[in-house]
Amino acid sequence: QKNERESMMVLSEYAGHFFSKNLNETDEGKSVGLGYFRSRGFRDDIIEKFQLGYSPEQRDALTQEALRQGYKLEYLEKTGLTVVRDNYQADRFRGRVMFPIHSLAGKVIAFGGRILKNDKKTAKYLNSPESEIYHKSRVLYGIYHAKQEITRQDRCYLVEGYTDVLAFHQSGISNVVASSGTALTSDQIRLIARFTKNITIIYDGDPAGLKASLRGIDLVLAEGMNVKILLLPDGEDPDSFAKERNDEQLTQYIEQHQQDFIKFKTSLLLEEAQNDPIKKAQLIQDIVRSISIIPDSITRSVYVKECSTLLKVDERVLMQETGKLQRKKQ
Ligand code: CTP
Ligand code: MN
Ligand code: MN
Ligand code: MN
Ligand code: MN
Repeated sequence: QKNERESMMVLSEYAGHFFSKNLNETDEGKSVGLGYFRSRGFRDDIIEKFQLGYSPEQRDALTQEALRQGYKLEYLEKTGLTVVRDNYQADRFRGRVMFPIHSLAGKVIAFGGRILKNDKKTAKYLNSPESEIYHKSRVLYGIYHAKQEITRQDRCYLVEGYTDVLAFHQSGISNVVASSGTALTSDQIRLIARFTKNITIIYDGDPAGLKASLRGIDLVLAEGMNVKILLLPDGEDPDSFAKERNDEQLTQYIEQHQQDFIKFKTSLLLEEAQNDPIKKAQLIQDIVRSISIIPDSITRSVYVKECSTLLKVDERVLMQETGKLQRKKQ
């Protein structure tokens, strides 16, 4: 329903202002929240640009204030900002630094909230639940702040996390969005496709990031788009990596180390297979499978040629195998 969505949007916008006001103007927010962002090296212009905030420790600070301002409990509950029990109302986000999630049009539609101290018991990030205005699988963090530059650069960097997006902006790279975790979806890729056909995946340098990059390759190819990969050194993510170098070094590193998916996969898999012929055969199958996902036949044949050179396998054999997989899909 249109009115309901509108009320939820207005409330989310209000909550965004509430959290950012708390960060910038209250003692608790300034010492805890602002202190946290600064300790991680985030500049004030970035904090402001992304409307970062802080949710107070108090059980129902936002709920109370919103109700006082005339917002309805119904929408507080529907947006997930308030958790309502029989005789009990509490803010979902408490004692966290807040990352508002903006729609393509720049409206606040949800939040991610991070705990301040890493402890193993509490999930590091808490996010708004799915709602009428927030479908996690269709949203990309940072898309509103990136779209213009994605078009201008004709490329989009895809990272995992909120802070990765912030760190890139701080380093002067603003054509960047986050999938908010590693569960990338086709809808998210189609959102990027409205601005560019070229994606570079820069996920965390850990086993989960690598696995998700490989999955991401096939998802991007299936949309008929071009995909490059930048594998970060072990234990690094775009945020930590960006903060260790100056803007120029970062840009240069990305430009020099991002690899087209076919080069990336062959070198990765060849390393694994070493001189084992059975493993090599499996890796060829794997790459052929990725190629067969590409919708356009001319693009497919270009990649077959490249693959044949890189792996020293007869081009006709590769073409034949790709064709087999194609037929299977129809
Ligand atoms: N994420 C989430 N819930 C979690 C963990 C992660 O929603 N419990 C999402 C967040 O969007 C997060 C992203 O997945 O930004 C990547 O997770 P991770 O790499 O663990 O966190 P970082 O983004 O690196 O966060 P930080 O640097 O603050 O530790
Ligand atoms: Mn606003
Ligand atoms: Mn990660
Ligand atoms: Mn990370
Ligand atoms: Mn990180």
